[in-house]
Parts: sequence; C-alpha cells; structure tokens
Amino acid sequence: MTESRENWGSKIGLILAMAGNAVGLGNFWRFPYVAASNGGGAFMIPYFFALIVIGLPVMLVEWSIGRYGGKHGHGTLGPMMYLQAKQAMKPKKAIIVGSLCGMIAFGVTILVNSYYNHIIGWSLGFAFNSLTGGYKGDPGGFFASYIQDPKNLVFWVIALLCLAFAVMKGIQKGIESWAKVMMPVLYVFGIILGIRSLTLGAPVNPDWSSLAGLNYIWNPDFSQLSWQSAIAAAGQIFFTLSLGMGIIQNYASYLQPDEDIVTASVATISLNEFAEVILGGTAVIPIAYAFLGPEGIKGSIGLAFMALPNVFSTMTGGGIFGAMWFLLLFFAGVTSAIAMYNYLVALLEEDAGIERKKGAWIVFVGYLIVGLPIALESILTQSANLVYFTEVDNWIGNYLLIVLGLIEIIVIGWCVKDRALEEMNRGGLWKVPKWFFRLFHQFLTPITIITFLVFFTRDYWIAGNFKVVPSYVAEIPEFAIWVNLGRIVVFAVLLIGFIQSYKSIKTKYKDEIEKNEVNEKEVNK
Ligand code: PFF
Repeated sequence: MTESRENWGSKIGLILAMAGNAVGLGNFWRFPYVAASNGGGAFMIPYFFALIVIGLPVMLVEWSIGRYGGKHGHGTLGPMMYLQAKQAMKPKKAIIVGSLCGMIAFGVTILVNSYYNHIIGWSLGFAFNSLTGGYKGDPGGFFASYIQDPKNLVFWVIALLCLAFAVMKGIQKGIESWAKVMMPVLYVFGIILGIRSLTLGAPVNPDWSSLAGLNYIWNPDFSQLSWQSAIAAAGQIFFTLSLGMGIIQNYASYLQPDEDIVTASVATISLNEFAEVILGGTAVIPIAYAFLGPEGIKGSIGLAFMALPNVFSTMTGGGIFGAMWFLLLFFAGVTSAIAMYNYLVALLEEDAGIERKKGAWIVFVGYLIVGLPIALESILTQSANLVYFTEVDNWIGNYLLIVLGLIEIIVIGWCVKDRALEEMNRGGLWKVPKWFFRLFHQFLTPITIITFLVFFTRDYWIAGNFKVVPSYVAEIPEFAIWVNLGRIVVFAVLLIGFIQSYKSIKTKYKDEIEKNEVNEKEVNK
C-alpha cells in the first residue's frame, strides 16, 4: 500500500475539521430534547459519566486506529480493523472482524446521512423562512406542511450540492477550508443566541424564566435518575462525538504518522462539549423553557423545528434570531455530514480506483436515492409521522454505533493490548498512562458498553421494536409498511457493506489470508 494520501494542511485546520465532524445536529437538535425528556439535570449525571468512561477512551482508540490505517493507505474501517485484529489472531478470523466493522461503518455513513441530509435541508429552508416570515402565521404547524410540500426538497438538494462541492475539493482545500469558516461562525452564533436566551426574563409565565430553564438543566432532581436516562446519555455520547461511525477514523487517516493524537482527541472532545453543553444547553433549553415551560420542552424533532419557530415568531427580532439559529444548525450539520460523505468517496477511491471528483458525484446520486423514502413518506402519506426515519435511526443511528464501539474497544483493549497503547502514545505531548489503559480500555469501558447494550436491547424489546408492527406505530398500523421498508433497506445496505468490506480486505491482503498464519513479528508481547 504505497499510494500517497492527502494530509491535513495545518493543526488548527485539523482540529476545526474534527470539531466540525463531531459538532453537529446531535449537539443542537438532538441533545436538548434528549436531555429535556430524560430528566434535565438528572440526565447530566450519567451523561458526564459516559463522557469519561466511554467517550474519551473510545475517541482515543478511533484516532489511533485511523492514523495507523492511514499509514497503510486505508481510509475505511474494514481494512483498518483487519490490520488491528490480525496482530492477535489468524488472518481468516481477522478478516471477519474487519468485515463486520466495515459493514457497520458502511451502513452508518449511508443511512444516517440518508435522513441527516434532510434535517440539514430543513435547517436551510427554515433559515430562509425565518427571514421571509414564512412560518409566522402558524409556527407550530408549519413543520408538517413544510415536509409534505415537494417544493421544499430544493433545500435538501442545495445541502447535498454544498457537501458534494466541499468533498470534491479534497481534504485541505475542501473539508479543512470549509471548517475554518463555518466552525468559528457557528460558535459566534451560538454565543449570541446563548446571551439572548439568558436575557429573556420570563415573557410568558413568571415561573418560566430562562434562568429557571438553566436551573432545570443544571440542578439535578435525583428522583428523575433512571436506567432509561442513563441509556439515553450513553447513546448521546456516542452520537455527539461521532463514535462508532467510521468517520473519526477516516479523518484521522489523513494525519502524519506521528501527529499527536492524545492532545487532538482531548481538543475535539472539549470543543464538542462546549458546543453541546454550554451552547446547546444555554441557548436552546432556556429559550424553550421560557416560552413553553417544563412540559413543553420535551419534544423530539419538534423542539428544534416546531417549538423554537414558535418562540422566534413572538420574540423581538425573532426573524434574525431564528435565521441565526437555523443557520447554526445548517453549519453544524454540513461540517458533520461532510465526514460521512468523505468516507464513501474515500471508499470509492480506495476500492474502485474512482477519482475524488467522480466519486463525489456518485455519492451525490447515492444520497439522493437513499434519501428518497424519507421525502416520499411525508409527501405520499401527507403526514409528519416520519416512521421510516425513526426506524432507520433506531437501528443505525442508535444501536449499531454502540456495537461498533464495543468491537473496537475489545480488539484494542484485549487483543492488541500494550502495542495499542504504544501506538496511541506515539508522538504525543501527553501520554495515556498505563494504569488508565488498564482501568478504562480493558475494564470499565467494555463493561459499561456491554451493560448498556444489554439494557438497551431489553428496552427495545419492551418497547416492541422487534415486532412486525412496532408499538410506536400501533395506533397507525397503515404505517407499518414504512417501518418494514426501513428494515429491508437497513438489512440490504448492511449485507452489501459486509460483502464490500470482505472483498476489499481480501484483495489487499490476499497472500497472507491464504497462508492464514499469524505473523510472528506482529504477535503481542
Ligand atoms: N457527531 C455528529 C452529530 O452530533 O451530529 C454525528 C454525525 C451525524 C456526524 C451525521 C456526521 C453525520 F453525517
């Protein structure tokens, strides 16, 4: 593998691109409603626990897997994980581990973006409507009519075109330069909205001041602490840090071989958490609380696209603040979706020899196709149930990320062991101490993820997600068809992903796989 790969142009560019990858709709659209519907302050306790016990160790692992893979010419997870696994097992077993990981990353990058790109499009559309007063008449109901109107898909296509143009230009001129502009603007918008939010007072009800909203998120009511909130917190950590997706590893594959990944991982996490907890937490939750009260803020998609437009339409200067909010969502979404887009372009480059520009157009068409069911469901059924979206998100955006994270931590912590620690620390200004690796990577992190996965599966079972007609569509059985269409698509994409990864590894490492001997030099000490 001697093909030359592009590298990041500067340290600041790398950090902003990685922060752009992590800081996404997960921080501003997902975090506020997940936190609000899982007990507010009580949610923050398992959240910080999961940040330390899962977030930091898995982030270090992913940077290190990516940098090592990049050194060997790989930007995708199948061959990267094969390289890790074969240090401790025979190539024929390692190829299975690699293919499973490659399969999940393939599924996530295709399917999470299949809906995520729509949310980016909605954000742009809502920014436009904020400025033109589009939702002023009926802010709460506007979202439903918006997604049922095929005209609005134009914003989705614009969003996809932005992604295509950025990725086409490559790592430095595309991804890095976009992040250098969009990320600072995003933080500035977030800070302005945060200040506006805290100076709102109590416009609707004297008990609902924005400061009371802040209290809601920062003052834990321990009686609200539950397994369910812990599960939601761990899931949020995976999603918000872009873990278990293949995209941190892909970005890390463009690093120089001894670039400091320990510091960079900590910087990525810090920038992400600032955006999520400080900006997402102070800008969104208190604004929503001030206008809607403690019960009103517990929406899902509703919070960002129904409740907040409601707020902006009554607030002085609401058009501008609304536009700022939705542009913030747009920038956050674009700088994250670029990473998934780039993963697929890298896959085409690496496995099919397709050059970047052509690859970017192929992925563009691919995303139009996989995004179609989301658009069609609302348009054809004239509803805003988004059942197909929910089902795909349940399996791909919530569940499989964690499975991938678990495989990675076990391979690194238990198969590669000390060698992995050495690799992680190479070039680092700070080093991960041995005790930390032993305590976290080998014990606490895998045990926490396994426990979490068991409860998560149980909850899915109880919630009826394994039934042909899941409980969440029991009231609208005619929508079961969209659920099952979602399942078929998930299954088909995963199957293709497995075969693709298997073939990719097999082609690259044919000889050693046929011999199937453990390479003595690579065996662990
Ligand atoms: N960390 C990202 C977020 O919080 O939104 C996760 C993500 C989702 C990244 C979708 C990229 C993407 F396309």
